[in-house]
Amino acid sequence: MSNRHFYHFSALPMSMRMVYTMTLLVLGTGYLFAMLQVFFSHAGLDGDPSMVSAKDIRTAYHGSESDTRLETALKGPMADMLPPEERKVIFSWVKDGSKQAGYEEKVKPIVESRCLACHDGSNPHLPKLTSYEELGKLTQKDEGATIPTLVRVSHIHLFGITFIFFIVSSIFAHAYLKPLWLKCVVIVLPFLTILTDIFSWYLTKMFPGFAWFIIISGVLMGFSFTVQWVVSMWQMWFYTLPDDIQECGGALPVMRRKLNTDDV
Ligand code: HEC
Repeated sequence: MSNRHFYHFSALPMSMRMVYTMTLLVLGTGYLFAMLQVFFSHAGLDGDPSMVSAKDIRTAYHGSESDTRLETALKGPMADMLPPEERKVIFSWVKDGSKQAGYEEKVKPIVESRCLACHDGSNPHLPKLTSYEELGKLTQKDEGATIPTLVRVSHIHLFGITFIFFIVSSIFAHAYLKPLWLKCVVIVLPFLTILTDIFSWYLTKMFPGFAWFIIISGVLMGFSFTVQWVVSMWQMWFYTLPDDIQECGGALPVMRRKLNTDDV
């Protein structure tokens, strides 16, 4: 017996199903771009740009055991800013202890032609690379994301992702899925995993082993999003409720009350 207040998609007006469908289409596209963003900003951090590994996640939050911030950037988001030969020149300069003589001779010309377009100090959010001292700050050990960066991204994610899943699960609430506890688990999962995800960032900064918590949280959130998206779309347009559920779940309460009086 279905709850009196449950309305299946099939009981909703066409216009409402259109709102839901278009919202899911755009949010689904947004999710794909979010995954691409994760890939582009993390995949190369461990030196292998073909996939996002646990080591990439550890490097992003905890820092690299071997690389400096400059090397991490040049293997990751800054990799395409210069040709591989010039990248090697910078790497070997760092390996040799990033000395001033080598900087003037080999590194400065590369930085001037490849990096200063953005890193000349005009953007306060980007490290300035106009002098030896400034570049030197980036050739110390890579400590991973800073606490202010994590705090900034945390509040954006906590607000943003709650909005997204409030919308998605409000739509999914109209799906018919038994047993009820399973439906509830699918709904609760993303709200729990955004919390475990974000707390794991700080834990990973301190203890790199927690990178796995970030990965598992992300996988579970993606799983829940996919289930809610697919089940909602499918039941909205292609699915017919079982007959007994149709009677009580799909119908409007007013009609049902009328039916009951007729019975008597
Ligand atoms: C087209 C603009 C642009 C160019 C050119 C560019 N960068 Fe960047 N750089 C950025 C932006 C934007 C960020 C911050 C976003 C990010 O970290 O992905 C950044 C971040 C960085 C960081 C900081 C990463 C961190 O740890 O926070 C370093 C180091 C860096 N760039 C080095 C370089 C070097 C070296 C070059 C030249 C080979 C270069 N960049 C060329 C735009 C640029």
